[in-house]
Amino acid sequence: MRRKLIVGNWKMNGSLTSNTALLESIRTAFACASFRPPCDIAVCAPAPYLAQCRIALTASGIVWGAQDLSVHEAGAYTGEVSGAMLRDFGCTCVIVGHSERRAYHAEGNGFVAKKAMRAVHAGLTPIVCVGETLSERETGQTEAVVASQVDALLAVLDRDALQRVVLAYEPVWAIGTGMTATPAMAQDMHALIRMQMSARHADVAETMRILYGGSMKPENARELLAMPDIDGGLIGGASLKADDFLGIIRTLVANRNHKDMLDVSPSEAHDGNNAE
Ligand code: PGA
Repeated sequence: MRRKLIVGNWKMNGSLTSNTALLESIRTAFACASFRPPCDIAVCAPAPYLAQCRIALTASGIVWGAQDLSVHEAGAYTGEVSGAMLRDFGCTCVIVGHSERRAYHAEGNGFVAKKAMRAVHAGLTPIVCVGETLSERETGQTEAVVASQVDALLAVLDRDALQRVVLAYEPVWAIGTGMTATPAMAQDMHALIRMQMSARHADVAETMRILYGGSMKPENARELLAMPDIDGGLIGGASLKADDFLGIIRTLVANRNHKDMLDVSPSEAHDGNNAE
């Protein structure tokens, strides 16, 4: 059974002041005994605010991470941030190969795979993003594009390294647009990715968490997160407002309660009637 994972991707947003309020709201909700979310929660902040996350989230049960890391280990790479530096600030995860980095910083499949490997070597969990653009979907290339992104990972990461990886399927046309893949559409892609992984390493495929990302919000999260191969969400816009981020997490609580109800066996239900 894969435990769900909800990750906030703040992108290049926030300030010391606004982050304080956001982190405080999330932390307070998480500390509330009745909240008990059946998932892991992470916040991926811009690098300058990782120290702030560390102070605000230490011992909260919420982990934090970065949105990118250098492909290099250390040295003369002005402006870069290494995996070891992220670890120094308590990061446990890092987003790798987000479509915005692929598009605006020309990060290709092989380069993204190397970054994922660098993250694993630094002791971080890489959250590796894959997904097709609108024109790729419209021209029927979705499966091939995503398969080649996953293949590049399989070429660089061995079984042990892959066990540390979280994947995020993020159709580029759904990111920040308000357009979301339907639960069935997303489920199909997640199942396909898992099958591809399974062909190489069946055990890894079984435990690997594959998140969905692309305009996930409280209104659509419940259905998406109920899909069997959707193991959580990578949340951009909705992670910037505590109510929305917590609202998405609450849908998991609702799904769990619903499942608990369905799991009550007929005899238990009968016993319950007798007790009345
Ligand atoms: P969005 O972003 O939720 O704002 O669409 C998701 C992402 O880019 O990770």
